[in-house]
Amino acid sequence: MYGLADKQLMKNFSYINGSWHSSATDFVVTNPVDNSEIIKVSNAGVVETQLAVKAAKNSLKMWSAKSANERAQLLRNWFNLMMQNQDDLGRILTLEQGKPLAEAKGEIAYGASFIEWFAEEGKRVYGDIIPAPSGDKRIIVIKQPVGVVASITPWNFPNAMIARKAAAALAAGCTFVVRPAKQTPLSALAMAELAERAGIPAGVFNVVVGEDARGMGEVLTQHPDIAKFTFTGSTGVGKSLIQQCASSVKKVSMELGGNAPFIVFNDADVDAAVQGAMVSKYRNAGQTCVCTNRIFVQQGVLKEFTDKFTKAVSELVIGNGLTQGVNIGPMISATAVADVDKLVKDSIAAGASLVCGGKQDSAGENFYQPTILTGVTNDMPIAANEIFGPVSPIISFNNEDEVIAMANATEYGLAAYFYSRDIGCIWRVAEGLEFGMVGINEGIISNTAAPFGGVKQSGNGREGSKYGLDDYLEIKYLCMGGLDK
Ligand code: SIN
Repeated sequence: MYGLADKQLMKNFSYINGSWHSSATDFVVTNPVDNSEIIKVSNAGVVETQLAVKAAKNSLKMWSAKSANERAQLLRNWFNLMMQNQDDLGRILTLEQGKPLAEAKGEIAYGASFIEWFAEEGKRVYGDIIPAPSGDKRIIVIKQPVGVVASITPWNFPNAMIARKAAAALAAGCTFVVRPAKQTPLSALAMAELAERAGIPAGVFNVVVGEDARGMGEVLTQHPDIAKFTFTGSTGVGKSLIQQCASSVKKVSMELGGNAPFIVFNDADVDAAVQGAMVSKYRNAGQTCVCTNRIFVQQGVLKEFTDKFTKAVSELVIGNGLTQGVNIGPMISATAVADVDKLVKDSIAAGASLVCGGKQDSAGENFYQPTILTGVTNDMPIAANEIFGPVSPIISFNNEDEVIAMANATEYGLAAYFYSRDIGCIWRVAEGLEFGMVGINEGIISNTAAPFGGVKQSGNGREGSKYGLDDYLEIKYLCMGGLDK
């Protein structure tokens, strides 16, 4: 019915303690292309979330006692199944989230790559031996799983944001409960189906889907059996979740909002910069935390960059992500469209000029036209806010110091990008930007081997890479005394 080769991947119950769990009521998951119903999903709430935490707690001893090799084998099975089912998983993702199918399949491979990576990395959780201050003692450091991990994940990457967290948690020996965004629960449930087929034991990976964001969130941030909470989403929501976690002093990691500058210097390869800006800005219709948010172009290449970029943007094809050749799908909702439109209109009222786009598209109420604004200043609404939509504000600048100051003039510090071929400029700007990740002559910086995360109000902790396990491990120091003869 959904064009899936394996219909069993379309699930509509929460996955708790290795069983599919129905609840008293349902909620509807819709396709953002036309708001049509995809499927009704059983509406879990506080009670089911508590059951999932209990299951994760009960399975913790068994899972953490397995060797890293045993856990790696099960994670490897999970990775293989995700890749074998990439087409179906991509299709489910496009149906519920809207991004074009090729991008959705790319997200499945991206998500799966974290499972493969951490299956290996979990084998390298090394301890330490530290020279003791006196001869009768030895100081030993071991690393242990933090315990039960709870997470809340966003709708913009319904597979990869779960995989990036769960793979690290499971590899470290933790058990896991996730509440995916209510708009996109189906990708998470399909992952649970494959986790079960991979042989991951009951209770280790639990998915609770439901509309009660507040109630379920309170369980996941306040339950005494949860040791760590991890969230990807907006800075505003992240702040209140951190406050909730304070009551039981949980370990937290947060991947929050961004306001990425994309800087093009006079000596840049302008064609490469245009290509970088296209992928960085328009992937997922601009609904990505690391998306370019403000494009700063030095005066000497302003016209060339703007002309070439406008041509590339005008060639983007808007439509249903399941249609071949489409590269801009719908936004997640009509509210999201209205929010972006307001930022555009308010900035035009403040003096920006519209080059292209600037309105809802005739493809449907959730579609917004790829838009370019010029003559923007750093204090206009479109530059001061995280846009989360397909809009590029272009701001001109004169020199390096000025642009570094403008780029850093934001509470966010997730990703930044710049294009230059001057080695001195490259080092000065890379070190001067107050962001957790910097793309230098590169518009796509996310990958498994790299530490993903932000500074300032973009969050804390790192996901992926050799650093990504640290958030799921506790350091324990053993002092062995009485060693005198
Ligand atoms: C995000 O938007 O939060 C994640 C994007 C990525 O992993 O590249």
